[in-house]
Amino acid sequence: MFGFLQRRDRAKAAPASASAPASASAPASASAFAHGNENLIELRDVVKEYRTGAGVFRALKGVSLSVHTHEFVAIIGKSGSGKSTLINMITGIDRPTSGQVLVGDTAVHTLSENRMAMWRGRHLGVIFQFFQLLPTLTLLENVMLPMDFCNMYSSRERVERGMHLLKQVGMESDAHKMPAACSGGQQQRAAIARALANDPPILVADEPTGNLDSRTATDVFELFHRLVAGGKTILMVTHDNDFAQRVTRAVLVADGEIVDEIDNRVTSDE
Ligand SMILES: Nc1ncnc2c1ncn2[C@@H]1O[C@H](COP(=O)(O)OP(=O)(O)OP(=O)(O)O)[C@@H](O)[C@H]1O
Ligand SMILES: [Mg+2]
Repeated sequence: MFGFLQRRDRAKAAPASASAPASASAPASASAFAHGNENLIELRDVVKEYRTGAGVFRALKGVSLSVHTHEFVAIIGKSGSGKSTLINMITGIDRPTSGQVLVGDTAVHTLSENRMAMWRGRHLGVIFQFFQLLPTLTLLENVMLPMDFCNMYSSRERVERGMHLLKQVGMESDAHKMPAACSGGQQQRAAIARALANDPPILVADEPTGNLDSRTATDVFELFHRLVAGGKTILMVTHDNDFAQRVTRAVLVADGEIVDEIDNRVTSDE
């Protein structure tokens, strides 16, 4: 399925990506965060267990992952392998059973529900497969929602910023449409604009192209590339093998563990 990863085991790939000093894609300005290193995102031995009728199910079995500023990382793996669980640890949508989740200066796993929501609203943009726009609000109102929630910008600035973000994703002429009047690709563009509302340094996307035709999916992927070029750091769960080869690094999850990585910045023909 992910043939391009098969000849590289994690033990070999990890030093290049996880613990090397700031590389070409991590700017010299990347300073140490409160937890003492230069990784914008760091998972340390994260375990996630769910209680089910059949007993305890371990969805993440001690995952460690480091992501530098300005990386574009693909999370790949079969259905049920733990990809969404992993990124839900980073967004704080779900909490680890044990282990640490460090994003910037924040120990995400220690935040209360209220602080988590506010922290997420300011520091992360989250993008879902099914867009999750509020159906009773226009696209512009959807984009302004995180600004309202986090009390960012003045009322007038919110409108201007919302329009600016919709323009950035090619949707300014549809700003006053309801989501139901828009195609899947248009809705996802608006959802990306919403994710950018508070100018977060990180975007986390769970199969953002999974519900789009291949041409629209490519457009969204190219948009992500432009955002990374503009300074964002992106983690994207994808089932698209081609996309996974065109990002900074692909991380393969299997059965609740990271079992392989490929750093696309180094030669892939070793
Ligand atoms: N709330 C939950 N309670 C019990 N088990 C869960 C829960 N959430 C996820 N799981 C289990 O954890 C495992 C990983 O699920 P996860 O959603 O992370 O997979 P995934 O890799 O994102 O799959 P897909 O590609 O289908 O989205 C699966 O076996 C799933 O059934
Ligand atoms: Mg999933």
